[in-house]
Amino acid sequence: MEPEVVVVGSANVDLVLPVHRMPRPGETVLAGTMTRGPGGKGANQAVASARAGVRTAMVVALGNDDGGALLRDALDGVDLSLATTSAAPTGTAIITVDDSGENSIVVAPGANGELTLSADALHAIGRAKVVLSQLEIPFGTVQAAAAASTYFILNAAPAAELSDELLAEVDLLVVNETEAEAIAGPDRSSLLKKVPAAVVTLGGAGAVILTRELDSEIAVPGVPVEVVDTTAAGDTFCGVLAATLARTLAAASANDSVTGSDLTNAVRRANVAASLSVQGAGAIPSVPHGDAIDARYAEVYL
Ligand code: RIB
Repeated sequence: MEPEVVVVGSANVDLVLPVHRMPRPGETVLAGTMTRGPGGKGANQAVASARAGVRTAMVVALGNDDGGALLRDALDGVDLSLATTSAAPTGTAIITVDDSGENSIVVAPGANGELTLSADALHAIGRAKVVLSQLEIPFGTVQAAAAASTYFILNAAPAAELSDELLAEVDLLVVNETEAEAIAGPDRSSLLKKVPAAVVTLGGAGAVILTRELDSEIAVPGVPVEVVDTTAAGDTFCGVLAATLARTLAAASANDSVTGSDLTNAVRRANVAASLSVQGAGAIPSVPHGDAIDARYAEVYL
């Protein structure tokens, strides 16, 4: 069966260091016990989409090493027939998580920096309902995926200035406030000069939706919870958003496009999923399954 969502993105081995507080520049702090687990923005998003119940494939480059094996195991449920093995080592992320659950991340891309699109990958991208990408892989690969997609979601993380050529191919941009500012400056409504629709995530405060279809922003409040670790909350949000929109597009007729109301429903579901993910530690291990998302969604919204 063809995938409904294709994620073109990164996979990393996450080395997680719990600290009481983040070090200041030039300072050393001591951490608790380091853990090693599967992550990477692309892999986290692919797992979130698959666990939300939608057929998901990932175009990813892994090293021929322990890290690659760890990620192949963790991506259980994601179609890896488009994964490639690179001579470079699997990507690595060093993540510090403080007592409040906030994180700070440094990534060595390794194999992610070698990711290109094969003819088979381009075929799957062209057939998918939704293609989702981020910026831990080469810009040229993101651009090629965007150009071949029918509905392309770009999670522009980590923050970067983006070319007008790439933004012209984006159907939905998902960014946090820092990433929004890197693209459009301090006035987030300027995002709509570059893309037809955007979701700006606001951490625990939820998200706002901007679309050219409507005059004003739609605010979707966050779902309050006790935070253990925010790592992969944004990725869970993006993966579940993509999965929910893929289902919407699959049910739509050929001329229908995604409306503001479709986006509101999808962002609510993505918010609920992100609120569940911050209650667990780590990246992929904290990503919720569809039944948990549905149960919490019913408590919050129905
Ligand atoms: O967004 C969280 C992810 O960012 C981590 O899993 C890490 O690998 C980096 O890609």
